[in-house]
Amino acid sequence: MSIYLALRMRHVTLTTTARVRVWQAFCGVVLAWSLLLMPASLPLTAHAQGAPVGVGDSILNRLLQEYRRRPVVRDFAPGDKLGEYADQCRVATGIVLPPTFSCGDGVEVPGQGSVPRGTACDHPNVLNSVCDPGSRFQVLAGRSADAVAVAHCRKNGQSQSGSLYNDIAIIQYNKSNGAVCFYQALDTGMPGTNIPSPSAGDGALWADRQVHWLSPATTHGTGCTFCHDNGGFIRSNYIAQLRTPPHAMPNEADGYSNATSPLRYVGSDFASDRSWSIVTSNSAGDTGGSCASCHRLAVNNASPAPHGTALDFALRATARTQASKNPHSPTSPIWMRPGQVVFQDGAAATAMRFHDCAAGFKASNFTVPPPGCQFQPLGVAWTPPPVVPQSGSKSGIVPIIDYYLN
Ligand code: HEC
Ligand code: HEC
Repeated sequence: MSIYLALRMRHVTLTTTARVRVWQAFCGVVLAWSLLLMPASLPLTAHAQGAPVGVGDSILNRLLQEYRRRPVVRDFAPGDKLGEYADQCRVATGIVLPPTFSCGDGVEVPGQGSVPRGTACDHPNVLNSVCDPGSRFQVLAGRSADAVAVAHCRKNGQSQSGSLYNDIAIIQYNKSNGAVCFYQALDTGMPGTNIPSPSAGDGALWADRQVHWLSPATTHGTGCTFCHDNGGFIRSNYIAQLRTPPHAMPNEADGYSNATSPLRYVGSDFASDRSWSIVTSNSAGDTGGSCASCHRLAVNNASPAPHGTALDFALRATARTQASKNPHSPTSPIWMRPGQVVFQDGAAATAMRFHDCAAGFKASNFTVPPPGCQFQPLGVAWTPPPVVPQSGSKSGIVPIIDYYLN
């Protein structure tokens, strides 16, 4: 009887396992199929379809679409859920994101002219190389001595007045331990009021009853670490104008100079990203301060294309012209070096040396520094400090031993 039962149970177990296998295989096929079809058939949301002004030609949307079109790898790992990522970020940076925020609480970036996505003003943005009237920057509530979270709402084509935005992003960064986190929402006409904190998780609805925060995997795929590679924040001449608290761009005075602060990417989706800071000498005849003396310039392994502070921004910061920018003048000075107003051959040539160091090192898959170039590891994966449980009056090694014995 018991043998019969055992056999029968075994039979049942086998059948169940087999069913699970068939079901898993079926789900796998459906998932692979839908992922393959997704880029062609799915716009960002149904809402994005047919809208007059879209995120279509922004750099981030191009990167997002490239990411969505990537070949699907077989051992597809889903990565962190948004709420899990935000939790890790809260612990790592030591600051809590506010439960909601509104773009309108921020300051409008000046020097943008009045034409949505216009192409000539004093301080165009560097991300999309356009003038973006109505875009707003803010320091979110909850900053500490070491850490700050900032939110930037880009109109990117939406009308200057309303409260709709096409690109809303947060960076949360601790300059003391280097923990850095990225959150991105990218869609046409997102409501900029009462935006739920990413800590509210994947399903959190915005004021239009839709979900807009991208998952950490998709946010990562949209390339944050392609460009943000020399520190938490990129201080372009567009955003560095904001010097008045409470919504001043974190700057040198606050210790956010990207000079010595570490850079550690939180979350499993960002764990393979690396960056290296670069040192090289000035070009012959350039007597200005080294481009590595006030802040680092870096190269990263995250971006397939030549993005980043050395490969891209160093050149743009010192170029004779800047896309969508009025000619360099006292009211619209060149970005680098500080205090410089117009183009200087020497600065541009030195910037090119950093670029060439970066390009050579990247070409060697980050193994061989080209002659005259030195590299220091900078951006690495965040590893949480070991958990030591609190256990009353015990001190020193005892709680750790207890922990491993339990
Ligand atoms: C192609 C380069 C590039 C990529 C990719 C990129 N950024 Fe940025 N980001 C910039 C630049 C440049 C600025 C400075 C503002 C400006 O001039 O546009 C900036 C500024 C920001 C700011 C304002 C604070 C600061 O650092 O100045 C936030 C927040 C931000 N980015 C978030 C993100 C997030 C999140 C991602 C990933 C989804 C991302 N960025 C991807 C280039 C990039
Ligand atoms: C005297 C200090 C100083 C020197 C020298 C300097 N920079 Fe900067 N750099 C800054 C400051 C300050 C910012 C922030 C923007 C601002 O305040 O205008 C910045 C920002 C940048 C950024 C944006 C990334 C970041 O860290 O925010 C780039 C790229 C850059 N500089 C390139 C260069 C290049 C290329 C050179 C050399 C030709 C150079 N810089 C020399 C002070 C300096």
